[in-house]
Amino acid sequence: MTNLQIFLDIATEAALAAGAVLQGYLGKLEDVVIEKGRPGDLVTAADKASEAVVLEVLNRHFPQHSILAEESGKLGNQDNEYLWAIDPLDGTTNYAHQYPFFAVSIGLLIHGVPQVGVIYDPFHNELFRAATDLGATRDRRPIKVSKTTELSKSLLVSGFAYDRRETSDNNYAEFCHLTHLTQGVRRSGSASLDLAHVACGRLDGYWERGLSPWDIAAGIILLQEAGGKVTAYDGTPVKIDTGRILATNGHIHHHLSRELMQVRPLG
Ligand code: IPD
Ligand code: CA
Ligand code: CA
Repeated sequence: MTNLQIFLDIATEAALAAGAVLQGYLGKLEDVVIEKGRPGDLVTAADKASEAVVLEVLNRHFPQHSILAEESGKLGNQDNEYLWAIDPLDGTTNYAHQYPFFAVSIGLLIHGVPQVGVIYDPFHNELFRAATDLGATRDRRPIKVSKTTELSKSLLVSGFAYDRRETSDNNYAEFCHLTHLTQGVRRSGSASLDLAHVACGRLDGYWERGLSPWDIAAGIILLQEAGGKVTAYDGTPVKIDTGRILATNGHIHHHLSRELMQVRPLG
């Protein structure tokens, strides 16, 4: 077994265990939802309990690796070339409202490049997995991106970061512009599932700004292994720390990039 396969299997173990924790808390949260500083940026007891489970599994198997976890921040030896980016509950707002669209997202970056990704949607019991050159799967069956070649026939998805009230670079203009040009733009509230759904062909493309590595590390490798393309908005190589990505089935990539680059902020 290759190292990547081992990393993938351990990340799967962690994601499934964390997903069970999320399912256990669903609908049972009382007044434990707290805003993290910006309006709408929530954290719940479920986020923390899920993260604790992921950390326990990863620390047990890979104590020497570094970790970037949404609720705990940087942990371990940050000089290590292996960095786990963990979102224990991607889609917290949905979760707090019992809107069933959320996931556990666990990505492994090696020398800064996403190489292993597991995204688990516990409500629908869907498990997305990928590792470099090992392919992408949903429930352990291979997945591929859609064949849609025209923007006018595409269904896209995007999102709005928690700083949307503080900046005019808030993606509102892009959302309106692309809504006119396509069959629709969805806003699901879970970046990792957005990427997973592009990877398995349910959606044709995704873009968003204001993201963190834990939102997208797993989804990037999943989409790439499913035959999709991930770049910056302008088509140049994606830099995960910019928090801005364009991710598509590949066929509509250039066209979508061109449209995004010409949008000016509203107002
Ligand atoms: C959020 C979701 C959402 C995206 C936000 C993220 P959280 O993550 O992925 O879809 O639009 O930018 O912060 O807070 O639910 O883990
Ligand atoms: Ca997130
Ligand atoms: Ca989260």
